[in-house]
Amino acid sequence: MKKGNLVIHSANEIVTCSGFKGKPGSQMNDLKVVTKASLVIEDGVITKITKEPLELEQYESKGFTIIDATDKCVLPGFVDSHTHLVFGGYREQEYNWRLQGQSYMDIMQKGGGIINSVRGTKNASKESLIELGIKRLNSMTGFGVTTVEGKSGYGLDLETEIKQLEVMRELNKRHSLDIITTFMGPHARPPEYKQDPDAFIDFMIKDVLPIVDERGLAEFADIFCEENVFSIDQSRRFLEAAKKRGFKLKIHADEIVRLGGAELAAELGAYSADHLLQASDEGIKAMQQAGVVATVLPCTAFSLKEHYARARYMIEQDLVVALATDFNPGSCFTESIPLLIALATNQMGLTIEETITALTINGAAALDRADQIGSIDIGKKADVVVHEFPSYKFLPYHIGVSTVEKVVKNGVLILDKEVTTPY
Ligand code: NIG
Ligand code: FE
Repeated sequence: MKKGNLVIHSANEIVTCSGFKGKPGSQMNDLKVVTKASLVIEDGVITKITKEPLELEQYESKGFTIIDATDKCVLPGFVDSHTHLVFGGYREQEYNWRLQGQSYMDIMQKGGGIINSVRGTKNASKESLIELGIKRLNSMTGFGVTTVEGKSGYGLDLETEIKQLEVMRELNKRHSLDIITTFMGPHARPPEYKQDPDAFIDFMIKDVLPIVDERGLAEFADIFCEENVFSIDQSRRFLEAAKKRGFKLKIHADEIVRLGGAELAAELGAYSADHLLQASDEGIKAMQQAGVVATVLPCTAFSLKEHYARARYMIEQDLVVALATDFNPGSCFTESIPLLIALATNQMGLTIEETITALTINGAAALDRADQIGSIDIGKKADVVVHEFPSYKFLPYHIGVSTVEKVVKNGVLILDKEVTTPY
């Protein structure tokens, strides 16, 4: 990917989120803002953050791109650390059934849900999935996202799981955003294994995991640990096998029923446990002690009309809390960061400072990248976003609307919404 030389000068605020690891509890409230400042990016890396005026002509003569951020605020690019962005087909009918009162699990039991997207993804060509992926990544870029995690799991067989992972590998080459890939073969029970989920877990461990591993197609492994999907024992078996092969672990935990997924994440040393709507006090404590990031997904709770995860309590318990969209075709068909910010601040009671930390350095920590991205620090990858208002405090205030104006990825200006022509 191209690496650029670029200067952003005269920003009203540089919201650095400074740090090289996930921030727990009350540390989430300190954004380490530098006011009236500029930053310099060389060869895709942040090399200077200063309140001193810069010799702009010198940089210009050396071919640097110059961005004037007077009356604007600058933030790290957002890290969306939980999505299912590669899928074929849509499930608009299911969403409309849910609006009429049917539950996600009712629809799954009737043969809808994830299995529906498995059909759509099997039938889609690789090229069409790549095209859709590019469109979706463009939309995320518009919301200021610069790194995104993507999971497989709409294949449930060897061929389609590999296809999804290969699509993400290709997207990484063709799109400016970075995609971190997660193998999530055990995402649902396929019809042929409906009565024997243990045999499906065996198949995943013996026939799919080794190939994903050999081909280097994923960095993380994940499983849907849920009543009527995969039990704690099945999840432990799959995740332990993945860990033995060197995969880093994630888990869809305690979303609908309190099974003890949070406790399992702590036991296995997962990087994150995600959803956690029903996580117990003990599970939350265990995660804190084991250093597992709690990734909460408010857009999913909203879309499912469920209550929100107890993020306030988790912060009080000194956890590292991350926020992500969970973009997928079923439980949460939205990649909207403005919606996520609205729900986190207005409905879950997080401060905007906590929300921004959860979307930047803590999202990076959930992906084991806090040393490289998620903050504006010297030596980090230059993934930075200029927002159109003078302060980050406008982000929750401009409800449901993106404040993003310019997106810089690896020091290259990849999106500029100011360059528009009137109708
Ligand atoms: O994170 N909970 C399981 N997996 C996804 C839903 C996927 C789907 O409905 O297609 C989630 O919500
Ligand atoms: Fe998910």
